[in-house]
Amino acid sequence: MAKIYVASSWRNQYYPEVVERLREAGHKVYDFRNPPHGQGGFKWQNLDPDFDKWGVSEYREGLKHPASELQFQADLDALNWADTCLLVLPCGRSAHTEAGWMKGSGKRTIVYIPEMQEPELMYKLFDLVSGDFEEVLEFLKDKITQEDIFEAFRYIGVNHADFPLSNSMFTRPVHEPLHGIGHIYRTMIACALLAQRLRMPRAGLIAFCGAYIHDLGRTNDYKDDEHGMNAVNWHFDKYSELWEKYALTDEERVYLKQAVIQHSQKEWTRPGDDGYDVMAILKDADALDRCRIGDLNPAYLRYSESRSLIEIIEDIYWRTSEVNEDITIQEFIE
Ligand SMILES: [Fe+2]
Ligand SMILES: [Fe+2]
Repeated sequence: MAKIYVASSWRNQYYPEVVERLREAGHKVYDFRNPPHGQGGFKWQNLDPDFDKWGVSEYREGLKHPASELQFQADLDALNWADTCLLVLPCGRSAHTEAGWMKGSGKRTIVYIPEMQEPELMYKLFDLVSGDFEEVLEFLKDKITQEDIFEAFRYIGVNHADFPLSNSMFTRPVHEPLHGIGHIYRTMIACALLAQRLRMPRAGLIAFCGAYIHDLGRTNDYKDDEHGMNAVNWHFDKYSELWEKYALTDEERVYLKQAVIQHSQKEWTRPGDDGYDVMAILKDADALDRCRIGDLNPAYLRYSESRSLIEIIEDIYWRTSEVNEDITIQEFIE
């Protein structure tokens, strides 16, 4: 289920049906024609019947009108709330500004063209351009269910309740979501899903444990080769009860540490080496979440199975991109 901001215009005749069909498909939709403040949608003619004769200075004043402020705030709140933007053509500058804002904020943005308009090059920025509403609905479908994720956790033998994340665990408790709780949970989920596809439950479990701490030692959001080493030095021992509970052997602890160190450096273990799969699962899982910065190169993934997860992790990312507060993995997945 997606939270969708439908960006369009008052004159668009397809808009009401689009909103209705999205809701029928189970999505939550912000309808700018019926905003939650209950005072109806915004129209310039309500401010001034002669608005179309305004100069720039009158327009600037018009932007400050209470009705303008009210609708702008409602739209802005909805833009922040939504995880997806559906731009429905034909429409004007307002809808295009909104769609650009959404895509620039890292949110999934789709252009639906029920009747062909002039071609536009910059639509290449968006995630889907379609003239077929069935295709739009298919694109919006969840690529994975909660149950699939819990099944993968069971497969690698973890009880996810043992792995809560909170901001106080990080070296820098105040940080951007880029390497925060959302990223770590997605990396853990990707470890479990990948291990299930590879049929490597134990390597998956150790990689999952590694993912849990892998970015806790970051001191910034930039390139930092040392943060894997720092995670091991500063954070590994704090969770010794967890490593005990999952009966990690001395060797497995070494694989975990080596995987975490190598995740931020050039890897030195090779296929067939002891601990290689722990490192490779963790690094591929971490790389899959590069979808959040639009910088995932499938050619760098170590397993073909990882490539089958690209759309799935992207789908989870769209729904969790804003998470940066303390939350359990159960709540995160729901
Ligand atoms: Fe990292
Ligand atoms: Fe990471």
